[in-house]
Amino acid sequence: MSERVVGEWTLAPGSPQLVLQGVTRFYETGAETVRALGPLDLRIAAGEFVALMGPSGSGKSTALALFGALDTPSEGRVLLNGRDLAGLSLDALAALRRREIGFVFQEFNLLPGLTAIENVALPLELDGQPLRDARLQAAEAMESVGMATFADRFPEDLSGGEQQRVAIARAFVGPRTILLADEPTGALDSVTGEVVMRLLRAQCEKGRTVVLVTHDSTHAAWADRVLHLRDGQLVGLEGTP
Ligand SMILES: Nc1ncnc2c1ncn2[C@@H]1O[C@H](COP(=O)(O)OP(=O)(O)OP(=O)(O)O)[C@@H](O)[C@H]1O
Ligand SMILES: [Mg+2]
Repeated sequence: MSERVVGEWTLAPGSPQLVLQGVTRFYETGAETVRALGPLDLRIAAGEFVALMGPSGSGKSTALALFGALDTPSEGRVLLNGRDLAGLSLDALAALRRREIGFVFQEFNLLPGLTAIENVALPLELDGQPLRDARLQAAEAMESVGMATFADRFPEDLSGGEQQRVAIARAFVGPRTILLADEPTGALDSVTGEVVMRLLRAQCEKGRTVVLVTHDSTHAAWADRVLHLRDGQLVGLEGTP
């Protein structure tokens, strides 16, 4: 099998992109310490599409935030593309979130004061790319989610499904190798949800890694592997491919 080049990274297919070793997340709530997740050992390979399922409160969003360096574990290590996130400075972590990781949430989270294409170009501009290059890449990303003709609309003039397609374009624009999606279809009807799943699957076919949190088993069926969390623990021995 040949290597795939995704953005500035060259990843051998099947090489571990995301590795969790003994990851635990505790929350202090008053006098109580709540274990939201772990201990969790997990390897997600480059180019894999993994669905994360489990009841409400089982730790899915907590896990996704740790995968994407939005949160830090109480114990254990998270390695992304071979680097221990604990060893990175705050600046390096911010750069990692702009360049390597894309997030998609249930609520779309587009900036209302920017047009669709400006939303998509923003992470590239924040990363210091010249405006023209950022716009060109954003236009390509908009095209690939079927939103080229909506580029100059503001989010409030788009349907929920259209906003989510823009949010997906924003999540993968640039050299991102991993997309983390937390209930991206939660606010959409089933037909529109299917469109979103097809877009995520297409990103995976292009060599990106996708981790999808979902309650919907028909959406989880798009994944290569389905992980089940219960009370912060993986059910079964599915952590290692
Ligand atoms: N900031 C916090 N402070 C205290 N406890 C928290 C905090 N965030 C999450 N928790 C707890 O951690 C556990 C896991 O929460 P998490 O949000 O990861 O669940 P989830 O699987 O994403 O649930 P849902 O399907 O409802 O989104 C829950 O018991 C939750 O109450
Ligand atoms: Mg959640």
